[in-house]
Parts: sequence; C-alpha cells; structure tokens
Amino acid sequence: METLIFKGIDNIEEAGRIIADGGLVAFPTETVYGLGASAYDSGAAKKIYAAKGRPSDNPLIVHIDEPSRIYELADEITPDAQKIINAFMPGAVTVIVKKNAKISGDVTAGLDTVAVRCPSNEIARALIKASGVPIAAPSANISGKPSPTTARHVMDDMTGKIDAIIDGGACEVGVESTIVDTTGEVCTVLRPGGVTLEMLREVVPDIRYDKNITRAIGENEKPKCPGMKYKHYSPNADVYVIEGGEKEVQAEINRRISENKGKNIGVLFMYGAVYDGAVMLGAGGGGKEYAHNLFAALREFDRLNIDVVFAEFREADGWAQAVKNRLYKAAAYKVIHV
Ligand code: TXA
Ligand code: MG
Repeated sequence: METLIFKGIDNIEEAGRIIADGGLVAFPTETVYGLGASAYDSGAAKKIYAAKGRPSDNPLIVHIDEPSRIYELADEITPDAQKIINAFMPGAVTVIVKKNAKISGDVTAGLDTVAVRCPSNEIARALIKASGVPIAAPSANISGKPSPTTARHVMDDMTGKIDAIIDGGACEVGVESTIVDTTGEVCTVLRPGGVTLEMLREVVPDIRYDKNITRAIGENEKPKCPGMKYKHYSPNADVYVIEGGEKEVQAEINRRISENKGKNIGVLFMYGAVYDGAVMLGAGGGGKEYAHNLFAALREFDRLNIDVVFAEFREADGWAQAVKNRLYKAAAYKVIHV
C-alpha cells in the first residue's frame, strides 16, 4: 500500500475523507501521534489492530473535536467526570465512561466502557471535524515500541501499512494522555500523563492513582486498563534506570560502563555529561522536559544500535509519575536505586 504524506493542515479534507471511507490516517496530537480510523466502523478498527500488531483485547481511545460530543458516545457522565471535562478538555486527558450502543465492540475490545479524549492539537481537531465521525486512535507505533512523537517515527513504523500520515511536527507533551476512570466509586488515574494528579485534585479532591501504575503486572492479572499488562515502549536496547542523587547516579553508571566494555552503551542523562565511552542523549533536567524527550531518545538509541542504555532518573516534580510509568516499562522494571 502506498502511504500518502500530508503536510500540516493542507490536505485535511482529503484526510477526513479517507477516515470516513474506512481508511487509516496517522495524525499529530499534543501528546503523541495517533493512528486513526472511524470509531463507527468496526472493519476500520480491525485494520488498526492489524497495522500495529496490537492484541485484540486492548481497547482504543475515541477522539472527539468538541468536549460536548462526549454525549454522543456515553449514556452517563458522572458529576466528577463532568468536572474533569470542564477543566481539562480539550487537552491531554482521557476519561473512561459507560459507552452507548453506537461505538463498536471492536473499538472497546468488548468492554461496556469507552475511553474518550478531545485533543487540543488543531490538526487533530480539524481532522475529526473533516471526517464527520469520532476517531478511534491508539498511539501510531508498532505495538510494544515507544510511542511516536514525530512524523518520522510514524513513517518508520507505519509506511506501507496505512493510507496516510499527517506531518504536524514534534508533539508538545511527548507522553500519552492521563487516563481517568470515572465509572467507579471514586475516580482513579489508570495512566499518569501531562495532566497531573495535583491538577486533577483541584477539581476532584478524592481522585487517586490506581495501584498498578508503577509496578509490573503479573501473567494472570486483569488490570483495569488492559494496556497496563503489555510490555510497552521497549526499545531494542536493554534499559536500566539508575535512580537517586547526582553523585551516586554518576558513580553507579560509570561503574556499569566499565563493566560493559565492548558493548555499545547509551546514557540518557538528567544531571550532566560526565561519562566516557557512552553515547549521551539529554533528557532535560525537569520532568516536563524528560517527558518530552523520552520516547524520541529511546528511538534514537535504537537507530544508533545501542545495546545497553543507562537512564538517569530522580523524581523532580509533578511530572515524575508520568515519566516513571514509561521509563520503568521501557526498562522492564530494571530499576537500581542508589
Ligand atoms: O495521548 C493519548 O492518549 C494517545 C493519543 C493518540 O491520543 N493515545 C494513546 O492510545 O495513548 P493507546 O491506545 O496507545 O493507549 C490507550 C490506553 C490503553 O492502555 C488501553 O488499554 C486503555 O487506554 N483503554 C482504552 N479504552 C479503555 C477502557 N474502556 N477502559 C480502560 N482502559 C482503556
Ligand atoms: Mg500506545
């Protein structure tokens, strides 16, 4: 299949038509690139799973162009859900609500709930508008790879497998949306992201993290968010997180570099460049920069054929949970505290 490349907003009507006709279009959002299809077309949803190699029990997020359109997809919006919608949509938050009959079971992997998000990215919203339907879209990576934060990343994973890619430049946030389950007794955050727990507490004081956010899920467990149990974000390199204060982290990484002579070593640094014999990429000093740079850095290490990555980490601010959730998964939970 030939994959068309569209620049920005230029071909948005054509891109919208492709979606309306049951095709697949990758598009930028403020978080990561999405791989979109009509949420009302179960055949198109199946094509998403095929293009990504995604397990069929992992549901998709449905994207809308105006927050109020959530009422076309859901039977019941709780008062807490409404508060979150009012405060943070459009933006980097997804709410899980009870779905109505219009959304195909192929989109929600058979669940009776649906994940809904209204992105703030103008190209994304224009695409949804042009297509005339809500757009079901997971991140536009091959299942298991780091999420794409540039059109180049999407091209690397999806060229030849989908109808079109819209190039809207680099994504601002760099990690996926915060997912909030609003269907239980209290709201829980199933995936941390750019809208932090502290921000959510301003409008829903008793909201809390789901317990599975930064731990490995066992083989036979059934987490709330099906995506939690899959190996995610894993680059080809073997990733280790070295967590702690500056001096200790640097000493530990230098020790490990000398132990691994002969391998191609990469360091994702937060503190500074004090390493010989490693390819260095900067994560940025704060959590927000780390989130923005993380997936691109993991993909860059792969491009450079790095065998082992040591990632410096410390919990700097409100973004720490969003970074940690992805970083720990990328490292398959190989975390060394020093
Ligand atoms: O920022 C984002 O959210 C990006 C952009 C493209 O919008 N999308 C994204 O989609 O990250 P994806 O498919 O990579 O991650 C969606 C996560 C999965 O872990 C999935 O299991 C969970 O959302 N999910 C979807 N529907 C759900 C539901 N009804 N209940 C619980 N979890 C759900
Ligand atoms: Mg994903």
